Amino acid sequence: GAGKLWGGRFAGGPSPELEALSRSTHFDWRLGLYDIGGSHAHAKALAAAGLLSPEEEAELHRGLDVLAERFAQGTLVPDPSDEDVHGALERLLIEEVGPDIGGKIRAGRSRNDQIATLFRWYLLDHSLTVGALLLDLVDALAGQAEQHLGPPGIGTVMPGRTHLQHAQPVLLSHHLLAHAWALLRDVDRLADWRRRVESDSPYGSGALAGQSLGLDPELVARELNFTGSTANSIDGTASRDFVSEFAFVAAQVGVDISRIAEEVILWATKEFGFVTLHDSWSTGSSIMPQKKNPDISELARGKAGRLVGNLTGLLTTLKALPLAYNRDLQEDKEPVFDSIDTLEVLLPAFTGQVATLTFNADRMAELAPQGFSLATDIAEWLVRQGVPFRVAHEVAGACVRECEELGIELHELSDEQFAAISPTLTPEVRAVLTVEGSVASRDGRGGTAPVRVGEQLGELRARVAGA
Ligand code: ARG
Repeated sequence: GAGKLWGGRFAGGPSPELEALSRSTHFDWRLGLYDIGGSHAHAKALAAAGLLSPEEEAELHRGLDVLAERFAQGTLVPDPSDEDVHGALERLLIEEVGPDIGGKIRAGRSRNDQIATLFRWYLLDHSLTVGALLLDLVDALAGQAEQHLGPPGIGTVMPGRTHLQHAQPVLLSHHLLAHAWALLRDVDRLADWRRRVESDSPYGSGALAGQSLGLDPELVARELNFTGSTANSIDGTASRDFVSEFAFVAAQVGVDISRIAEEVILWATKEFGFVTLHDSWSTGSSIMPQKKNPDISELARGKAGRLVGNLTGLLTTLKALPLAYNRDLQEDKEPVFDSIDTLEVLLPAFTGQVATLTFNADRMAELAPQGFSLATDIAEWLVRQGVPFRVAHEVAGACVRECEELGIELHELSDEQFAAISPTLTPEVRAVLTVEGSVASRDGRGGTAPVRVGEQLGELRARVAGA
């Protein structure tokens, strides 16, 4: 067609089949304002190099402003004959300012360096959005943790698990904060990713080798709010590790959230009975009137698979791709756009669900000592009495065996039964046979003792404030 960017050496137009395959406007149109921003900066670089008169430059900026306004209003649309957002916007600019001036904008740039820059810029923007949404979820977890930390008493206790079996009692707050720390590391990962990407504007790399027109890539970088421009034009146009790394962080977020989701789903079952979901953040069944379903958590669990798939697809596209630009790279956008869209719709819903969970503290407290979860406390009490841990472990194990035979819990053993198992088991051992005593005794840094969890919450909040 007449608007093509590369018609000169071709006798005939592209076949409709090729056009259908090649077209990317249905997904790269979302980069429209970024493309226009890039053209504003490029026009400045062209003017600074003496390739545009001040009048020509002003006319280009005016035309670009008109396009941006129409784009924002949603009235700027690609034509079916447009290959991609870059070609479409050049065509539209020429329609606005005429071919003599509009025809000058393409000098010294290629869609290869354009897309490499605009895609970085778009991801930089969305890394901030996703980061803020993650901090909202961290806040919701911290809010629940604070609420369940007491006063009064020691706060809400629960059975801590390993292998999904009762292991040792812990504070619910401690458990919830474990998820919060994982999410905070994801926020950190985004910030770390940003530091690498924001100093690496590839505009000026041309198709692969740079440009010969005296344009200043640093000027363009500054205009686009990057802190620097790319050092190697081949790397600038051919590398996509900034995409796969972003997709990795998105996948890790998905995986981290899926672990919370799985627990919420379990906790909401009749068998656990640990949580009640808020009506506004759960769903019903079309046939079973009594149902209340944890759909948000199930969707979170499901979307984690999709986020991992997007990362896997990207890495597979990049594998063994020779330098420099190859059209394969057009496949880099949809997966990561999807990861962003997924997180931007998932995180607010997930945060709302977490913030409105009601925990059944009595149920969790009742289960916390069951399954002989205080056996380690007996062993560690014996160690404090000077018994070697190897022996202490045996003795505490013998207590469990005895209880299993009698069908009772550890604290229900009589003084005589304790003494018969081992003379080292004096009645004083009862002090550690309460959930409160057990939890309070784990008072080293990072432990589940209420005083430590209180400190931990403060530490987390300070990190959130600095993020
Ligand atoms: N639409 C392409 C992409 O997304 C950018 C244009 C590069 N095309 C080309 N034929 N060199 O990667």
